[in-house]
Amino acid sequence: MSKSDMKTITVIGSGLIGRSWAMVFASGGYSVKIYDNQPGQAVKAITEIRKQLQELEEAHMLRGELTAAQQLSLLSSYDDLAQALEGAFFVQECVFEQLEVKQSVFQDVERLVGKDVILSSSTSCLVPSNVFSKVHNRSRCLVSHPVNPPYYVKLVELVPHPETEASVMDATHAVMTKVGQVPVCLKREIDGFALNRVQAAIIAESWRLVKDGVISVKDIDLVMSEGLGMRYAFIGPMETMHLNAPEGLEDYMRRYGPGIARVLTSFGPVPDFCGEGAKEIVNEMCELIPRDRQHLSARMERRDQLLMGLSELKKDH
Ligand SMILES: NC(=O)c1ccc[n+]([C@@H]2O[C@H](COP(=O)([O-])OP(=O)(O)OC[C@H]3O[C@@H](n4cnc5c(N)ncnc54)[C@H](O)[C@@H]3O)[C@@H](O)[C@H]2O)c1
Ligand SMILES: *[C@@H]1O[C@H](CO)[C@@H](O)[C@H](O)[C@H]1NC(C)=O
Repeated sequence: MSKSDMKTITVIGSGLIGRSWAMVFASGGYSVKIYDNQPGQAVKAITEIRKQLQELEEAHMLRGELTAAQQLSLLSSYDDLAQALEGAFFVQECVFEQLEVKQSVFQDVERLVGKDVILSSSTSCLVPSNVFSKVHNRSRCLVSHPVNPPYYVKLVELVPHPETEASVMDATHAVMTKVGQVPVCLKREIDGFALNRVQAAIIAESWRLVKDGVISVKDIDLVMSEGLGMRYAFIGPMETMHLNAPEGLEDYMRRYGPGIARVLTSFGPVPDFCGEGAKEIVNEMCELIPRDRQHLSARMERRDQLLMGLSELKKDH
């Protein structure tokens, strides 16, 4: 496929993530064809995106080199899958997180596209070998797992199917980089990918510490937001260790490795997140932030505003 053919991307599913991908791809200058199987839904998505692009432009937070109007002109909506796929070199699926739905979408898509078209899924919890089990040619399939909201949180995990060709990983890496996302490549598929596995470890130990009466909900959140999170927004755990001992990582592990290993052996079993035992933790959280729409929305807005500021701070780093 020549470079001049690589201009159009099809986004399938126009919910939260589909709309975000469409904005991210358009910010990188790609034409984006949006399809949704709910009639009228893709049109609605563009209306919503128009509003968001205008707000971003006014706030000087618009991504890419193009104006909001130029980016908007790159978007089109379809209620017909075949039309939506015409001319695309890359397909980003963003439908419901249900295995059967995704499998059947990719079955339909494969019938309608040429053999070089890359098939990419946004799934957060399903592994590629399940998502693509009904596709014949799986060498062009992969998961590109975004983090919400992708417009401000730029990481994308690229996860191969066991049969995915290296060139497909490379091409996807190039697309993601071109649109300003930050792709990372997993070398093989694994349940939870990398981000959700690390997140699960943090959630589990935070939960246990609260449950065991060691610390409050409020304070364990501060451990992250005012402690670990301060540096993790710029350097990861590996570099953190490398910089925290005079002679780097090996030195760090000589000094602190035995302590870390000792603590690790004292981690408890998988917590009960939903049963009777969870109630107290849930109540404690809801006292801090009541779970009604109004309170939650206000905190979400605050989160997105702060993420916007942080992504501005991280620009060029
Ligand atoms: N929301 C997140 O935080 C997040 C983060 C990372 C990845 N993801 C993944 O992204 C995907 C989409 O999530 P979302 O939050 O945007 O969901 P959503 O419910 O907001 O949107 C799904 C959209 O897909 C459409 N759809 C459903 N079946 C379809 C079909 N067969 N063909 C075409 N369109 C169809 C629906 O009409 C809807 O508009 C999921 O796989 C999810 O796991 C979500
Ligand atoms: C399968 O996909 C790969 C990668 O896109 C492509 O190079 C190859 O020609 C395809 N094979 C068939 C039989 O369509």
